[in-house]
Formats: sequence, structure tokens, C-alpha cells
Amino acid sequence: MNFAADIKSSLVQPHFVVSGNGVNQPIESMPGINRQSVDVLCETIASDMALGITAHMLFAVVDHHEKDSTASKASHPDMPLQQAIAQLKQKYGGDIVIMTDVCLCTATDHGHCGIVHNHEIDNDLTIPELCKIALSHASAGADYVSASDMMDGRVKAIRHTLEEAGFTNTGILSYSVKYASAFYGPFRDAASSSPTFGDRGSHQMDIRSGYDEAILEAVSDEGEGADIIMVKPAMTYLDVVRQVADAVARPVAVYNVSGEYSMVMSSTSDEESTASLVREIFHSFKRAGADIIVSYHARAAVAGNWLD
Ligand code: PBG
Repeated sequence: MNFAADIKSSLVQPHFVVSGNGVNQPIESMPGINRQSVDVLCETIASDMALGITAHMLFAVVDHHEKDSTASKASHPDMPLQQAIAQLKQKYGGDIVIMTDVCLCTATDHGHCGIVHNHEIDNDLTIPELCKIALSHASAGADYVSASDMMDGRVKAIRHTLEEAGFTNTGILSYSVKYASAFYGPFRDAASSSPTFGDRGSHQMDIRSGYDEAILEAVSDEGEGADIIMVKPAMTYLDVVRQVADAVARPVAVYNVSGEYSMVMSSTSDEESTASLVREIFHSFKRAGADIIVSYHARAAVAGNWLD
């Protein structure tokens, strides 16, 4: 079986949204990917839509002076992310699928994904903040809120919050199986979300853990009401993707993360060799059972016809 025809419709292009006007700032460690203000982002997405890339994952990059200990700005309706969602939905309606990242790390001054209490991330204090952020994205028009924080019980709480507010059609993509990986480095640069102390080991999964834990997380998120189950990173966990795809009834997504992207980009200097690598990588995702592929390569792969 050849998955080529299927890959294009599986792709999701990530974007980084910043404040300002006319901002189109390259990210050094991720050639070809920029931080963009809402006006520029809308132009980029217009050309992506023209290529046939209809699914987009938006990440907020919050200015330093707006960060605080509780990420209070992340749920503000006037922030660039919420503005971008509203504008894109108004323009494209049901033709676009907007997924938004729900986490505290980009808007906390300490860079952690949750509320810090006694030098530890407090799961239960974090959940209401995540629900606020998810609700603000849904109110702006997001199709899927993507919980990347890894707190226990957040899918159920977000589902409850959305339903109470009448957002019964907003989906939840859960980063169910997310490893404490060394492959997120370039992203943390891009989103200025590196922790200022400690690491993410308390809530992200141990890279040495076995299949049982991955399946447990995936099945439990499915039970809490997740519509899409994600495994992240992708390339070093294809075996886990297969196990998860066999265990859940929901679509499975892979996140071909920033470090994987940078590794490919820094190993090639011409389009043809990049194309060969990306083609091979994308086919491996499909073979492992991925229904959805979130990848920084999406745009170039579609534009350059790299998929066949
Ligand atoms: C936020 C988040 C991260 C990524 C996606 N959402 C960073 C992290 O967990 O530190 C990583 C994406 C990538 O590396 O491309 N929690």
C-alpha cells in the first residue's frame, strides 16, 4: 500500500504568532519558519490555503513584559493568538481547521507549563487556568484546542468547561503521550518558553518508559473525551505510535517536532535531498498508523510536491 495520496490531507502546519504589525521574524534554529504578527500570519495562511493546506496549529509567543506567574495573558481575548483565530475563522469559516496550543509555558515568567507552588508544578491549581485558556480559544473560534501541558485530568476538565459554555463542537486534541524529550530545543527558542529553573520531568513522560504507560495515557485521555490522541515526538517513537493506534478508536496524530525538523534542515543543502528525507519520514508516520501529521515541513512538502 502507498500512502502518498493520503499524506497531504493529513498535514497540519504549525505557526508562531507574535504581537505587532508587519513582523516576520526568522527563527534561527528553524530555517523557513518565522514568528509572525497577525497581519503577516494571515497572508502566510492565505498562501498555505491556496496550496491546499487547510489545517493549522497556532502557538502564541507572549512578550516578556506580559508574562506573569499564572499566565494570565494567555486567555485574554485581545491577544494576537485570539485575534488571529477570529480573523481566520471569519475569512475561511468551515474551510479551515484551526488548532490552538493550550499550555501555560509561553505566558509564564518562569517558563513552566503549570502553576508553580512550593517550587513544584501544582497539577490541580493549573487545571482551571488551562480551562480558561481553552475557553478563550474556543470563544475566538478555534476548531480544536490542543492540550500540550500534560497535567492529569485536564482533558475531562476542559471538556466540561467547553460544554458548560455551549462549545459542544469544539474538539480536544490531547498531547496524550508526550515524552520529556531533548528534541524540543528549537521550539523553546521560538516560543521563548524554556523553564528558568528545573525541567519538565514531573509531567512529561520518561523517555525510557515502556508501552504500558503510553497506552494507559492514551486510553485514559480517550475516556476523558479527547477527540484526537497525539504522540510526541514522532520519529523516535514510531513504535509507540503503532501501539497507540492499535489501542484507541480515535484518530492518532504525531508531532514531528522542532528538533526533528532542525536535524533534517541542517543535514541538507538542496531541495532534492530535503525532499527525499521528508518523503521517507512522512511515509514512516503513515505506516506507523498516524492519521494526522503536525510538521514544520508541511508547507515546503506540499509546495514542492515532495509527497509522491
Ligand atoms: C508547549 C509545547 C512544546 C512543544 C509543543 N507545545 C514545548 C515543550 O513541551 O517544552 C514542542 C514542539 C516542538 O518542539 O516543535 N508545552
